[in-house]
Amino acid sequence: MKFEKMFSEIAVGGITFPNRIMRTSMVSGLATEDGHVTEELKARYQREAKGGVGSIVVEAAVVLPSRSSYNLRISDDSFTPGLKELVDAIREANPQSKLGIQIMHFLKISRSGWRQKVTDFKPEDFAVIVEQHAEAARRAISAGFDFIELHMAHAYTLSSFLSSTNERKDEYGGKMRNRMRLPIEVYKGVRDAVGNEVPVGVRINAEDFTVPGTTLLQSTRIARKLAELGAEYLSVSAGSRFEDAHPPPPNTPPDPMSGYSGHRMSPWWWFPDAAHLHLAEGIKKAVHAAGYHTPVVAAGKIHTPKLAEEILRQGKADIIGLCRPLLCDPDWPIKAKEEKENEIVPCTSCNWCLEADSRMEKVTCSRWPEGALVPPMPFTNKQARPSELPKDATLG
Ligand SMILES: Cc1cc2nc3c(=O)[nH]c(=O)nc-3n(C[C@H](O)[C@H](O)[C@H](O)COP(=O)(O)O)c2cc1C
Repeated sequence: MKFEKMFSEIAVGGITFPNRIMRTSMVSGLATEDGHVTEELKARYQREAKGGVGSIVVEAAVVLPSRSSYNLRISDDSFTPGLKELVDAIREANPQSKLGIQIMHFLKISRSGWRQKVTDFKPEDFAVIVEQHAEAARRAISAGFDFIELHMAHAYTLSSFLSSTNERKDEYGGKMRNRMRLPIEVYKGVRDAVGNEVPVGVRINAEDFTVPGTTLLQSTRIARKLAELGAEYLSVSAGSRFEDAHPPPPNTPPDPMSGYSGHRMSPWWWFPDAAHLHLAEGIKKAVHAAGYHTPVVAAGKIHTPKLAEEILRQGKADIIGLCRPLLCDPDWPIKAKEEKENEIVPCTSCNWCLEADSRMEKVTCSRWPEGALVPPMPFTNKQARPSELPKDATLG
């Protein structure tokens, strides 16, 4: 088989992913305004699962009770039945694919331009944050998910504690040991809640791409600590920080996607392919050198099966994270497995999807037929809309 490594199994804690393609978390805007699962959300994930992806991390589900319109929520028991329906629907579409959910605590923002910072939390808030994650993880397991992913990347709360930009003066900020305190407490709280049988993966920023911000020098230490604690995989991401975001226009909340850091998370078409691979490789080397064999997920403009296979064969990562390419063409895995990679409808990294999210619209792909919420099945290059890239854009 041409892409043998990519279609080999991998053990993640006590479970086995049937192949090494992971659909990384992607907010969809398809939940109800108050965060419940909808038929559209189920249809989206079912369509992706049918394409043969080995594991799916369902989009960041909010663990705290604060308002956050159209984001999926897991902040109280009323969300569990809907999440169970979602799990059942995805399993019906593809019983092999392993299902996780990313759980997320966010920093509040407001239309006045204000944003909450790590320095705004009081010491008594920390136990609450830990409990919110632990409760969310319990709900995820009772909904039937196979694994949990803790969101410690991008602009969110735990990432902001880990970041070198954390200027708290107490034992939760400043030095690296202190910055890791709350994320470690959360990890341990979740581990206690779900036990050792359920894999708990963590997504981190290997690089913030801000001044000052976390670089590999710090993120390798974070990764080693998480491996030592027993995290079952490390998913490597980058960017999407507020620190270099543009000042928002009047009556608009700050947008972490507006600065350079924001442009790194889902690398745009003008970035090289596999733009974050050096970060995943650096994390993997550091973790291995410390004696751990924690699988590392690399993501970020890895758009072709050939490139994905090469990365795996070279041992730079253990799992390939695909987000936009699977949104664009969910049959990417099946087409690769059947060696029909020329039939994949290629994601152009135009970030139509990301911009829809920033505008709080439903996330769709510019290449799908007009008005579609999922691509047709099968989805062919003939059905795809032309690329959204500017006319002078050249790729490859
Ligand atoms: C619309 C959109 C929403 C995203 N939402 C999340 C999210 O909820 N959590 C997360 O960790 N990453 C999120 N990401 C980042 C992706 O998981 C992924 O790391 C990034 O897009 C790079 O991979 P790709 O080139 O395969 O798209 C999102 C990306 C996009 C485009």
